[in-house]
Amino acid sequence: MKNCVVTGGARGIGKEIVTMFAAAGCRVVFIDRDREAALRTQEELQAENRNVQAFVGDIGNEADVKEFADYVIEKCGKVNALINNACISAGGLLSGCTGEAFTYVLRVGVTAPYLLTLYLKEHFAPHASIVNISSTRAFMSQKDTESYTAAKGGITALTHALAVSLSGKVRVNAIAPGWIDTWESHDLPEPEYAWQDMAQHPSGRVGTPADIARAVLFLCDDKNDFINGETIRIDGGMSRLMVYHDDCGWKYEGGLG
Ligand SMILES: NC(=O)c1ccc[n+]([C@@H]2O[C@H](COP(=O)([O-])OP(=O)(O)OC[C@H]3O[C@@H](n4cnc5c(N)ncnc54)[C@H](O)[C@@H]3O)[C@@H](O)[C@H]2O)c1
Repeated sequence: MKNCVVTGGARGIGKEIVTMFAAAGCRVVFIDRDREAALRTQEELQAENRNVQAFVGDIGNEADVKEFADYVIEKCGKVNALINNACISAGGLLSGCTGEAFTYVLRVGVTAPYLLTLYLKEHFAPHASIVNISSTRAFMSQKDTESYTAAKGGITALTHALAVSLSGKVRVNAIAPGWIDTWESHDLPEPEYAWQDMAQHPSGRVGTPADIARAVLFLCDDKNDFINGETIRIDGGMSRLMVYHDDCGWKYEGGLG
């Protein structure tokens, strides 16, 4: 049986990754800081006879990461796939994100993926894969997003560094999602999108967690072992659309500042 480890598996994209790996017959161990959501996801999937175990902890805290790694080694022995998915944002410059809040985001988004890899280094199965979840925000920005953007830039660079260090042992890739709607796992009503929201994507729609989870499984498939150290953008083409002032009926009114 293949063993898959996921961070932030209780909701959103992480929950879909847990669900798809479990449906593919893997044993999945995931960590999430949201106890209630983690236990609910575990219960839901176990009721479908899936082999899923939740661990409650905060990956921004090194002691929790170590405890989780020990738990994974005890439950799984060897790890076939590590998916570093969890991240958060604490805003940025304009809203006065403090050094402490900024550093916490980096601990969750960059340090924890590094530490998990470090602690599991001797416990990867042959042909194992790591997939890091980055963001198109690693390459482009809105205002006031420094904490998140820095974390996503960090995990994108960490991906190729780890791929080189783990060469011949573990493949390491990243996915940079664009706009992915996670309403369902947050118990929110299905949003109604303006046609503009959809039309700004060359694919004509906003993304779903399944769009990302399918790509994670693809990257972990050993048949695709020539893909290594890569970050794959999955955003319906949104970040490829070049818009000039007065283009597409769009006017820039943001000023120079
Ligand atoms: N949704 C999007 O549009 C989008 C776009 C680009 C990138 N991403 C990235 O995809 C990943 C998943 O995003 P999502 O939208 O599914 O998020 P989400 O908020 O829906 O789910 C994240 C899960 O991670 C858990 N989590 C957060 N911080 C944690 C911590 N410190 N320790 C343990 N668990 C923690 C949360 O409790 C939650 O269950 C993130 O890395 C995010 O940056 C999302």
